[in-house]
Amino acid sequence: MKKHFFANWKMNPRTVVEAENLLKMYHEGAGEIDGKKIGLIILPPFVFLPGLIEKNKSNKIEFGAQNCFWEKEGAFTGEISPYALKNAGANYVLLGHSERRRILGENNEVINKKVKAALKERLRVILCVGESSLSAEQADKGYLEIKEQLSAALAGVKKPDLKDIFVAYEPAWAISTVPGAQAESLDDVLSSILYLRKLLGEMYSRDVAQKAKIIYGGSVSSQNAAEYFSQDGIDGALVGGASLNGSEVIKMLKEIVK
Ligand code: PGA
Repeated sequence: MKKHFFANWKMNPRTVVEAENLLKMYHEGAGEIDGKKIGLIILPPFVFLPGLIEKNKSNKIEFGAQNCFWEKEGAFTGEISPYALKNAGANYVLLGHSERRRILGENNEVINKKVKAALKERLRVILCVGESSLSAEQADKGYLEIKEQLSAALAGVKKPDLKDIFVAYEPAWAISTVPGAQAESLDDVLSSILYLRKLLGEMYSRDVAQKAKIIYGGSVSSQNAAEYFSQDGIDGALVGGASLNGSEVIKMLKEIVK
């Protein structure tokens, strides 16, 4: 099955010129991959999206946003609609990221509304779920948290729409900018992904669970990317910090196609 590499630039870089220079490095990286086997998706800040889409020279690179609102248009100051994103050339939207949950107070109910609104506009959704702390995981509470996040975010989402969803399993404590963070061990990632498939099986069907696209995020770099990408059960990665370094991106793409 095709694997996907999502580059979550977060609130980086600082300027249009820097964003365009980074895109140039992605063009070089895209040369390393077979577009039929690896999807390469950049999720830049909103303001850079249209400009980067216009400057994009590779048919192997697609774009998405890091958030959206749940209404199509109207009096919602400061928000961006999925309709406008699609119209601007985005094909994907990242929803439920732990930084938005933690810093901006996004809850499962809000995330659910966004997921449904994005799917309605035929945006593909990268839905982040993951335990909020290492202590929760160690106390075996991590699975409870994941279950709650997944079932709430997908409430009312119909089976055929699952083909447009990527579930990103991303334990918040493994994100590289969190003090003391390290990537989750391959075994633990595999068990959590298996658990997510089991949940999807219970919520939908075995077929959905088997076909579901589930990726991993949390301190992925050129040191470990190949390890995750080589596993049948892992359909790709959501990469934050390392996706801001052009040479690192090229290295990762080289590693995962080896
Ligand atoms: P990281 O971030 O790769 O820097 O750990 C991943 C993410 O937050 O999506």
